[in-house]
Amino acid sequence: MTSKSFGKLADGKEVELFILKNKSGAEVRLTNLGAAIVSIVVPDRGGSFGDVILGHDDPQGYVADHSYLGFIVGRYGNRIGKGEFSLNGKVYQLGINDGEHHLHGGVNGFHRKLWNVPASTDSSVSMRCISPDGDEGYPGKVTLDVTYTWNDNNELVIDYKGTSDAPTILNPTSHGYFNLTADPRNTILDHELLIEADRFTPSGSGSIPTGKIEKVEGTPFDFRAWRKIGERIDAPFEQLQLARGYDHNFVLNRYDKAIHRAAAVYEPKGGRLMEVFTDQPGIQFYSGNYLDGSLKGKGGIAYQRRSALCLEAQHFPDSPNQPQFPSVVLHPSETYRQTTTYRFSVKK
Ligand code: BGC
Repeated sequence: MTSKSFGKLADGKEVELFILKNKSGAEVRLTNLGAAIVSIVVPDRGGSFGDVILGHDDPQGYVADHSYLGFIVGRYGNRIGKGEFSLNGKVYQLGINDGEHHLHGGVNGFHRKLWNVPASTDSSVSMRCISPDGDEGYPGKVTLDVTYTWNDNNELVIDYKGTSDAPTILNPTSHGYFNLTADPRNTILDHELLIEADRFTPSGSGSIPTGKIEKVEGTPFDFRAWRKIGERIDAPFEQLQLARGYDHNFVLNRYDKAIHRAAAVYEPKGGRLMEVFTDQPGIQFYSGNYLDGSLKGKGGIAYQRRSALCLEAQHFPDSPNQPQFPSVVLHPSETYRQTTTYRFSVKK
């Protein structure tokens, strides 16, 4: 690992950039501002290297960002209805930052923190965020460690470890926006997708789950075999119309603490393949519906609608208010853990 200055924040604080290059020359860049992934440069079928993740050229870009490009988000990835939940008989009110709901940890979530860097190796960087009791309304002082490892198999392994000094809820995720053409001026509509899920959680207004768990069979949400993302994205199907495309939690078939493949994306022209492995119960597939060209990223490129996709491994949205969903409660005697890996390769 090598590191250098990424620039300074308005208050003069230095932000760092970490560079992990593996034996093949493939490279990942990270910053401790929001523990974000800044770039992932991997080869296509012909051996040309290209950057497959959206991001910003400097800390100012990340400070101004409202689409969560590449950040670790939390304490709660995705939405909590009305930002309200109860735990042990007490009602907690979180910050409201998405209509009348709480999204991705609120305005001052993990993505707004300058993380410490307690450890690193040749191929990894560990970052730590300490979120005080009451941060964005959440109970308990939480310490979250995220370790990024970039190995010689072009796998970016993200290990999370979290503790709290009081009962709380915790559900962080990595919010990367991928475009496997390595040119975000293209849309992702020709990318092919596979999701290892027989069921998904439909949502109602404000993208809050209705609480039902429905079969994907016979719907545009069936990605159990490879399908082009653009094939059915504008189908007259209420769930797609409500979210202006895909923006849904898929219920992964295998959830047993072990790590399983959850999803895979393939870009047929360049041949890049990305597989996502996780131990989480759900994956949010978001097709970049709300990117609208107003956000400029690396190289000054305006990120247009559907120019990238997110595959966020996590617990289901609004779980604290949906007792039938797997629990996100963390007790002081427990340790929160998550491992999610993004593996890059090519199909011939
Ligand atoms: C959510 C979207 C949201 C996007 C950017 C995704 O995880 O599911 O609804 O627009 O993040 O905030």
